[in-house]
Formats: sequence, structure tokens, C-alpha cells
Amino acid sequence: NEIYLQGLGGAVPPFTTDPTKLEDSARELMDPGPFGYVAGAAGSGATARANRAAFDRWRIVPRMLAEATDRDLSTTVLGTPMPAPVALAPVGVQSIVHPDAERATARAAAALGLPFVLSTAASSTIEEVAAAGGDGPRWFQLYWPTDPDVCASILDRAKQAGYTALVVTLDTWTLAWRPVDLDQGYLPFLRGEGVAIPFSDPVFRATLDAPPEDDPGTAILRWLFMVTGTDRNWDALPFLREHWDGPIVLKGIQHPDDARRAVDAGMDGVVVSNHGGRQVDGGVAALDALPEVVAAVGDRIEVLFDSGVRTGADVLKALALGARAVLLGRPYVYGLAHGGEDGVRHVLRAVLADLDLTMGLSGQRSVAGLTPAVLTRSAG
Ligand code: FNR
Repeated sequence: NEIYLQGLGGAVPPFTTDPTKLEDSARELMDPGPFGYVAGAAGSGATARANRAAFDRWRIVPRMLAEATDRDLSTTVLGTPMPAPVALAPVGVQSIVHPDAERATARAAAALGLPFVLSTAASSTIEEVAAAGGDGPRWFQLYWPTDPDVCASILDRAKQAGYTALVVTLDTWTLAWRPVDLDQGYLPFLRGEGVAIPFSDPVFRATLDAPPEDDPGTAILRWLFMVTGTDRNWDALPFLREHWDGPIVLKGIQHPDDARRAVDAGMDGVVVSNHGGRQVDGGVAALDALPEVVAAVGDRIEVLFDSGVRTGADVLKALALGARAVLLGRPYVYGLAHGGEDGVRHVLRAVLADLDLTMGLSGQRSVAGLTPAVLTRSAG
């Protein structure tokens, strides 16, 4: 309504409200290196394409005269009350997209009351992003450093700064084969992007012979070695529990047995995700992995979802298949490229409005009413 009313005076939205066009319009604005890093995927891109195709195979079956004029999208996820079941996925190195980076994203998320998940690979510090987000809900994503003291220090900073839930990403213990980045020889981390959190960490700094300001190359490599490799295993999860008071969720889960192990390890949730198709090429579509994980653990822990969510209908479908909330990735990053904080807000508001309308027109009044019965499997 707001957009149409403004249209009476000749105004149009700052950039497209069509989520399928966001990537193309961002390509025109961004340098090829950063654009490729954001848009790119693992290998041939098969997993990223499968993520989208999986949404298309599910169809919403609208109900009529269902009294869905007044809708309630609110929910509570990981102890955080939210106006809608949507959070902002952890996306590192946002300085390659916009100078205000994660601070702008945190402000946009806070303005709408949606949780922003700050990445360990952020280009702003834990404290700066907390200050920017003010009273807004915030969660922290961990790339798990092998050095336990560094890990504990980062977790402690996040706790102190008011991040309530911990999202532990398991699918990126090394970077995948990403041809778009390889072809351009572009890796933001080696250029010193995405290291604000370790570089500002006193315990990490103490592991270095020279401060990162004097010898950034050595500091970057030390950090990259600390967060890559397979030294972490299921038995190490109690360490995280010891150092975190709030809910902990494991991100990157795609197999029901891994979800069961998360329950056995005392985790509070999982994020069914394939990192937006950025890690395993030829992998299962995240939406196809969701129902089995929900069936395995959905009655015991919270199941969140990401990878490929673009529209309000996508959100509805993921919720109907059992997700408690979805995380949005690339779409808000393209919003950031278009207009910093305002751009992120524009994208988020568009997705929320689209979700709200799609729910209403489908005869659904609340997220609690969304079940698989709302969907049908498309034949085509
Ligand atoms: C990511 N993602 C990610 N995940 C994470 O746990 N920590 C991180 O630092 C990053 N960094 C990152 C950078 C960029 C440029 C992208 C596009 C993604 C993955 C992210 O959290 C999420 O899983 C996907 O983006 C979801 O898929 P869509 O919505 O982008 O399709």
C-alpha cells in the first residue's frame, strides 16, 4: 500500500522489489571480485540451482473464505521474540559490498526487530555491530578456532555484547572449489577483509609475535589456519556449551543422523543449510533435506532453514515443511550493495510484505498454522 500510495505522487521504490532481479541489478553496481564472491557457488553451481529448483517443486494450495484478514507473523525462535520468522544469515566480509558493512545491516535488522547473525568473518568487530544494532536482537555465528583460549575469548566478547544465541557453522572447515573466485584470483580474507574480530581480540593478538597492524600477512595466515581443518569433532561440543550460556545451534546440517547427533550433544537447534550452495557441488537441495531432519528431531529441538530463500512464498514453504524460521543470505547483501542500511531495509520489508500477502491470500493467519497440508508436490 505504501508503495502504491507513493506512486500516486510519482515516486517508485529505490530499486527492484522483484527478488529474482536483485542479483542482476547488483552485478551492475558491484566490482567483479566482490560480486563474484557474493553470487558465486561451489563448482558448477549445481547445488545453488538445486536450492531454487526445490522450492519450485512445492506448491501452495490456497484456501478461500478463511478469515485471514488479520494475520500474525510473530514467533519466538531460540528464545528471541520476532515479528516474523525471518533472520539475517551470517555473511562475512560485508566491507567488500558497502563501507558501512555489518553495521548498516545490523541497523536495518534492528529497525525491523529481526535477528542479525553476526559472522566471525565480519569486517566489523563484535562490539561495533552490537552498538549499531542497539536494542535489536542479535545472534553470533562461530567459525570455531582450534585455539581454545582464542575461542573462549571470542565467545566471551559476544556474550558481553549481548548476542543471545550461538550459531556454529560446521560446513566450512575449508573453502570449497569456487571457480568464480579462482578465475579472478579473488579471496577477500587474504586481502585483509573479514579479520576484524580476531584482529581486535586480545587473546588472539597475544599469539602473534607482532601486532596485526605491523605484520598483517602473518596474522591473517595464523587466523586462517586456526579456523580451517577438521580438528573439531562431535566430542568437542561440550567445550562450546561450557563457554556459552544461551541456545546453541549447529548450522550446515543436511542429514537426519547429524541432526540426531546434535540432539545427543545437547544442542538447542540446527540450521538445515548448504551454505547457499557455496560448499559442496552436486549437493542435496537444502529444502529437500529439511523434511527428513524435521521428522528426525523437530519435536525435540528447533530446526531453522536457509539456502535459496528469495520470496515470501519460499518462506511460507520452508515453514510449512517444518522450519521455525528462515535465514536470508544473498538478497539482503544485494540490498546492502544498492543502498547500505536503507537498501537492506528495503529488501527485508519487501520479503516480509510478500510473505504477509502470500499468507493472507493462501488463507493462512499465523505461522503456527503452517503445516505440510498447506502444500502439494508439483508434478511438473
Ligand atoms: C555466506 N554464508 C556464511 N555463513 C556463515 O556461517 N558464516 C559466514 O561468514 C558466511 N559468509 C557468507 C558470505 C557470503 C558472501 C554468502 C553469500 C554466504 C552463508 C550464509 O549464512 C547462508 O547460509 C547462505 O547465504 C544462504 O543461502 P542464500 O540465501 O544466499 O541462498
